[in-house]
Amino acid sequence: MQSGSLRLSFRFILPVALVWALLAYAVVPWVDNLTLRWFVRDLDTRSQMMASALQDPLQEYMAQKSPRRIAELFDRTVQDQRLFALAFCDDNGKLLYKTRTYPLTLGCMAEGRPQTLHQSMVPLPQGSVHVTESPLRVEGGNYEGKLILVHDTSFIERRSADARKYVLALFAVLAAVMALLTILIAHFSLRGVLDALKDVLVGDARPQARHGPHEPAPDIQPLAGDLRALLYEYSVDKRARDDSSRQWTPEKLRVLLREELAGDEVLVVSNREPYIHMQTAKGLQVHRPASGLVTAVEPVMRACSGTWIAHGSGSGDRASVDRNDRVKVPPARPSYTLRRVWLSKEEEQGFYYGFANEGLWPLCHIAHVRPVFRSADWEHYVAVNQRFADTVVQEAHTDDPVVLVQDYHFALLPRMVREALPKATIITFWHIPWPNPESFGICPWREEILEGLLGSTILGFHTSFHCKNFLETVDRYLEARIEHEVSTISYGGKLTQVENYPISIAWPEPEHGQPDVADCRLAVRRELALPENHLLGLGVDRLDYTKGIIERFQAVERMLEQYPALVGKFTLLQIAAPSRSSLDEYQNFEARVRSLAQRINQRFGSGVYVPIMLKVEHHDAEQVNRLYRAADVCVVTSLHDGMNLVAKEFIAARDDERGVLVLSQFTGAARELHEALVVNPYHIEQSAEALYRALTMPEIEQRERMRSMRSLVKDFNVYRWAGRMLLDAARLRQRERITSKIHSHSRASLRRVV
Ligand code: G6P
Repeated sequence: MQSGSLRLSFRFILPVALVWALLAYAVVPWVDNLTLRWFVRDLDTRSQMMASALQDPLQEYMAQKSPRRIAELFDRTVQDQRLFALAFCDDNGKLLYKTRTYPLTLGCMAEGRPQTLHQSMVPLPQGSVHVTESPLRVEGGNYEGKLILVHDTSFIERRSADARKYVLALFAVLAAVMALLTILIAHFSLRGVLDALKDVLVGDARPQARHGPHEPAPDIQPLAGDLRALLYEYSVDKRARDDSSRQWTPEKLRVLLREELAGDEVLVVSNREPYIHMQTAKGLQVHRPASGLVTAVEPVMRACSGTWIAHGSGSGDRASVDRNDRVKVPPARPSYTLRRVWLSKEEEQGFYYGFANEGLWPLCHIAHVRPVFRSADWEHYVAVNQRFADTVVQEAHTDDPVVLVQDYHFALLPRMVREALPKATIITFWHIPWPNPESFGICPWREEILEGLLGSTILGFHTSFHCKNFLETVDRYLEARIEHEVSTISYGGKLTQVENYPISIAWPEPEHGQPDVADCRLAVRRELALPENHLLGLGVDRLDYTKGIIERFQAVERMLEQYPALVGKFTLLQIAAPSRSSLDEYQNFEARVRSLAQRINQRFGSGVYVPIMLKVEHHDAEQVNRLYRAADVCVVTSLHDGMNLVAKEFIAARDDERGVLVLSQFTGAARELHEALVVNPYHIEQSAEALYRALTMPEIEQRERMRSMRSLVKDFNVYRWAGRMLLDAARLRQRERITSKIHSHSRASLRRVV
């Protein structure tokens, strides 16, 4: 503080002292000289005027030879304030008349007076006087003598002193203003440079920024590229090192949390809960819902502990929580807390069925179902998002928790949490596709949705294609700065990293001892009343119009038309978990699915044989796993799907390295699982061919394909999915710390400047 004020004094006093020296040695003498010239010139003119005024009366009195009247004339004249004395010398240089005040030392002679520029100034012991001589002529031009006028110059001294005083005061004020200006300019220009640097690091693009939304300030431009490139190289390099050096397991994920995020608490928010308690005739029973989201996030939560906040939708949910609406799960081996949030029927209708599932779900999936947007649903959506955000704040033990926000039900929540907990690390994962900007533009609240999501630290999608769509959508509808090379968006001074994190499953632990594949094949066929060597295709989905179930059945029909030898030998078992069934669209879809299955079964079925077995009911994970192991082919024909974890679950289940995956090209999974038979589900003949090829694929080819896909899914498991997001979050936290150091450094620099 003391050295700061010393610096301040020095920076202030130095310019003032310099100006002072300049004043003393140059400006003041120059001003003195100048004012003296002006006054001397003034007195010269005055003297001339007085001399000519005296000329006539003096001549007259001299002609009258009246010394008395001359003396009176002279005395009257010197009553003028400035005229000090008067004298008249004849042409022989004899002093004839003078006033009493005339200094005798002046005499009549011009010799001896200083011949300077101001030769009229004569120094006397009592001070300088101004002396002028004016010849007196008589008629005819004969020279008679000279009139000597002596002016008092003390007023010049007085005025010079005054002028000096004003000049000094003026310059003192000027010096102070200049010193202040210097400080201010230094302050603002340094602040400008630091702000611009900060902008580069943070990537800020507030609408009020002077420069364009994609451009850093011009003065910082040469540096900006280098800085960004350096940061990007650093993060890419670190990311590559982190990715390759880790075999992702639950333990690694725990270590990551401990080491990179200092054991930060993890809070998950999703609509669907991982465990649903149901009141049944047998008492309270626990169900696992059919949800890709739950499949993926649940093992991560088991590894990280923490709290999962979700809608308590089961009939037995209230009966199984404590007084804080919490219950420890998984029921068999509790390792984390499930915090339930209750919704009224109207809220569930507006928020979940209405805005989320009639609006956003069809909006984001290209499945040719029109999205429906209602203002009343939107209001519920906003209110429920706020309720969940408040619950996050309530459940957080620290002011900087790691919050994992799940899916399209909570697009507004990231910003709401950010406002309440500015230091939180918010990782939002969008489990469904993100459409192109035109499609998204249909949503009447598109800006609000985008702004809400940009409250996140990290926003994740399954594929880089969805990330690109999101960046383009933001570009279209918001004033934000987008750094395409590093995939960041800066909005309202806050940075969001947009990345692709392909979701996955927890690779089954070998010691879990899967049931034998041969046993499964046999047992399942027996349960389904099928012959031992019956070819079995399997579809496992929620009963949702995005899953391409109709197209799958059509492909089966087409295959049986094309390859009649398969009639009686092949069955597609379709597991369809009832979903969102109170919505018309889903009810209609179920009716269409049922009637198509019936039609095909009537056409190709005979006796007990049916080509399509449709089971519209919930199956638990273990049952589904047995079916995966029993099937010859798993058919995934989604019309549009963020990832589709059924494809990965099937691969993980096949430790016998057999079985074939037929996979829609419109799933995120198709971007990773290249050894699947990839189809366009809209092209029925192509899917039929792929199904036939799968059923007739030689074992060796099945093994090669399955082995390669298994090794990929094993490495790219769900712990890697979560780990990469958490690592990126840790990196961003670090980057924010660097930025805040720059902030405080910039503040310190500013203090130094002033
Ligand atoms: C998709 C969504 C999930 C959702 C799941 C089941 O996978 O991305 O968020 O949980 O479908 O749907 P439901 O409406 O039953 O939760």
